[in-house]
Amino acid sequence: MTPDEFRNRYGPVALVTGSSSGIGWAFAEELAERGFDLVLSARRTERLEQLAAKLAEAHGTKCKIVTADLSDPDAPAAIVAATEGEDIGLLVSNAGFNIKGAFETKEPSAMTKMLTVNCHAPMHLAHGFIPRLKARGNGGIIFTGSVEGFIGLPFSTAYSASKALVKGLGEGLWGELHTENIDVLTLCPGATESEATAKMDPAWLPDLQPAREVAQLALDNITEGPSYIPSDKYREQFDQLTSAPRREALAGMADTLRNYG
Ligand SMILES: NC(=O)c1ccc[n+]([C@@H]2O[C@H](COP(=O)([O-])OP(=O)(O)OC[C@H]3O[C@@H](n4cnc5c(N)ncnc54)[C@H](OP(=O)(O)O)[C@@H]3O)[C@@H](O)[C@H]2O)c1
Repeated sequence: MTPDEFRNRYGPVALVTGSSSGIGWAFAEELAERGFDLVLSARRTERLEQLAAKLAEAHGTKCKIVTADLSDPDAPAAIVAATEGEDIGLLVSNAGFNIKGAFETKEPSAMTKMLTVNCHAPMHLAHGFIPRLKARGNGGIIFTGSVEGFIGLPFSTAYSASKALVKGLGEGLWGELHTENIDVLTLCPGATESEATAKMDPAWLPDLQPAREVAQLALDNITEGPSYIPSDKYREQFDQLTSAPRREALAGMADTLRNYG
């Protein structure tokens, strides 16, 4: 697809949740460079304003800021309502966070919050935007999942389960929408530079992939759904893990990850 074809198919406006840092910030930069106007959403308004100013100066991008806390179950509907007048052709449902460590040591309320942000929000944003994409006759949805959605990762169990839901959501919607001129891609990154990985022990995360590279590859491969791993290394590693006998793969990962988090 040429840059013009790309913008005509998915533009003029893209919504990116979780655009105040990491992969979402990178998606916003990459889309602005491709000539999109943007709706930026996250909790930290000042970070979104900083990004909007940067993109306006660099590319003349028009940004609308919608501050939202996606751990509030009503937030997706509020985002849909706040963007009613915008011709959004691309939804990038990217906001999310992880909880690492032994499952039973984690606060149940933190798990509920994570499920609301990682699962409830993409499901309800998709539900709100699909009628708008269908009415336009074309467009796309990118869900940021994770390689952890391919296999239950011990000591990252709840997060991994949340990303398995994202993968299932993306696969089902790919099936429902591939005849509707709407591309659905679940982006499944491995370890990527972000605020989240900056807080983790670097010993566990060698070779972080640049967030901008992840965003660029996702956009370049938006028609290659339902799922896409943006790194040869992780594609190979998770191919091996998912084709090994499940018990063997899980026991091996548990031995390696026992001291995670
Ligand atoms: N980095 C990795 O290695 C990696 C690997 C696989 C998948 N992922 C996925 O990539 C996505 C982006 O994460 P990241 O790695 O770029 O981490 P990040 O730098 O921490 O960014 C997370 C983004 O999500 C937003 N967010 C978090 N909680 C939110 C809430 N309650 N309401 C609204 N927005 C919220 C944050 O914005 P505010 O704090 O301003 O609200 C921020 O913009 C996530 O879905 C993550 O699971 C990351």
